[in-house]
Amino acid sequence: MAFTFFLPVKMEFGRDRYKACGEYVKGTRVMVITDPVIASMPYYGEIKDTLSDTLALTYEKVMPNPETAMIDEAVSLARAAGIDCVLGVGGGSALDTAKVVAMLSRTREGELKDFLYQRCAYPTERTGLLLMPTTAGTGSEVTNVAVINDTEAGMKKPLVSPYMYADIALVDPALTDTMPKKVTASTGIDAFCHAIESYWATNTNPVTKAVALEAMDLILKNLRRAYEDGADKPARDNMAKASMLAGVAFSQTRTTVLHAISYYLTARYRIEHGAACAFTLVPFLKYNLGTIRNELQKAADYCGYRTPEDFIETVSELYRDISLPKKLSEYGILPEDADKIAGEGMAQATTKLNPRPVTFDAIKEIVAGII
Ligand SMILES: [Fe+2]
Repeated sequence: MAFTFFLPVKMEFGRDRYKACGEYVKGTRVMVITDPVIASMPYYGEIKDTLSDTLALTYEKVMPNPETAMIDEAVSLARAAGIDCVLGVGGGSALDTAKVVAMLSRTREGELKDFLYQRCAYPTERTGLLLMPTTAGTGSEVTNVAVINDTEAGMKKPLVSPYMYADIALVDPALTDTMPKKVTASTGIDAFCHAIESYWATNTNPVTKAVALEAMDLILKNLRRAYEDGADKPARDNMAKASMLAGVAFSQTRTTVLHAISYYLTARYRIEHGAACAFTLVPFLKYNLGTIRNELQKAADYCGYRTPEDFIETVSELYRDISLPKKLSEYGILPEDADKIAGEGMAQATTKLNPRPVTFDAIKEIVAGII
């Protein structure tokens, strides 16, 4: 087989390394981007303090599922301030916003939608970019994708560019210690989806597969612990590591049908990203089983389970135990909505990366089974 692995992000990992993050910032006019919750955390003040006189401005208004207007506001502030480096601190939404601002602040013209819909060519440079995740997680710190919520179109759209790879991903598990239970569950299962989708994707490769296996093993052994006791530092450390590894895996392969279906569920029904992916995780493990039995046997062996069925049962028990939503009806979704959800899932290019071909009827049946 032929494959390419390209990931130009320097990864720095370790507990309490955030206290020296200023050393990694290459710039004299730094813009810090985060959300209001993280802006109220004690560690956020410490991070800003390490920047001393290089801190030019902060943007602390990032909202979940970043919308084009919000990102445009951050970009115009960055352009006006003439920044030369962006430091993103937060979950996927803050990091995705930071990536787009780093790229679009290098050009004077164009709003985000001009780039999203190819009316302007993407810039071929960006400012310096350092990303520090506070969840475990989205893996956004090591990917070149930002997922944008186009509210007018009612759809989430991925913006992809090699110029959105960060210079440095500084992954410090200490920043994840304060994650609430619900966020721990939702972001942790998102990381598992990244790992399994990269592992089973038709364009997977030996490097991403090895990395995805390690990520899955870490998540199956640590997510429940981190969820039950947020102060369990070894579990938090392992989840932060797993999230980064899962990000490395899907940075090369992209994701598949679980994420494809999630985009519409989030854009239309405001379901949290990780939970939106997790709804279809176990059903699609079962759907794919016959096609990838050998691969799931390898995963079972690696993670210490006897059979692929045991592996799936372990994932199923984890999904049950960490209190994620179990029925789409909890979000007001009705049986007659299954057609639309299936149609939107089929429209995503990544659905075609699923190892067993996916049909409209297959998604509809799975979705109908979880309403
Ligand atoms: Fe995700």
